[in-house]
This record gives sequence, structure tokens and C-alpha cells, in this order.
Amino acid sequence: MLSKIDHLGIAVNDLEEGIRVYEQGLGLEVTHRETLEDQGVVTVSLGIGESTVELLSPTRDDSPVAKFLEQRGPGIHHVAYAVPDIEAALEDARDAGFRLIDEAPRVGAGGKKIAFIHPKSTLGVLSEVVQST
Ligand code: CO
Repeated sequence: MLSKIDHLGIAVNDLEEGIRVYEQGLGLEVTHRETLEDQGVVTVSLGIGESTVELLSPTRDDSPVAKFLEQRGPGIHHVAYAVPDIEAALEDARDAGFRLIDEAPRVGAGGKKIAFIHPKSTLGVLSEVVQST
């Protein structure tokens, strides 16, 4: 059901520093920038092959990413997998006994359908599924 790694989400305190590190330091290119008010996050995507690195920075103190940064500091926040059919992927995950953060898909960066799977079900890694088409 998972077809490739769509992106890696990396939490940063300072977005401009993050862009410097990944763009100037590692030579990736910013392809998209978007604020998701409902999630309290600014996302900056940098392309790498068929995948992207997604920098995440909080827009407010009570957002989930702000809490992540407070508890764990900057670092890998989630792994996102592309799926051809997100409803089917969520059904499969539910059947496998996984705990879902999103019971139904919601709209993420780029207007794509996304959903999160609880890190307790995936060995400590917050996992996201993204509808690929
Ligand atoms: Co993501």
C-alpha cells in the first residue's frame, strides 16, 4: 500500500536557519512554502529526487510542533509515505490494529489529502500517509 517515501518532516525552531542549512549547506532547493493555520505550522519543502524534505516550524506556542520542539528539540518529526488510495491505506492500518491520529483524511500542504498514524503504533515514529494523486 505504501509506494515511496513522500517526504521527511523535520522540526526546526528557526525556519530561516533551516532553509540555510538545507538549501545553502546541503544544496537542496525550496519548492514550496505554506502556512497551515489549523495545524499551527509553517512548512517549507525542499526537493530531493522524487521526495522532499519538509521543514516544520510552529506559528504558535500551543501547536503540536511547538510541543515536539519543547520536549525533544529540533529533529526528525515524521516520515510520510505516498499511497495511491488514502482511504484504503487508513482502512488497512485500522485493520492492522494501528492507532490513527486522523480517522479520516484531512488537507495538508499543497492541498494533498493526508492522515497521521500514532507513533505508538509505529515504533516511536510519527507516520503520515499522503495521497499521491
Ligand atoms: Co508531512
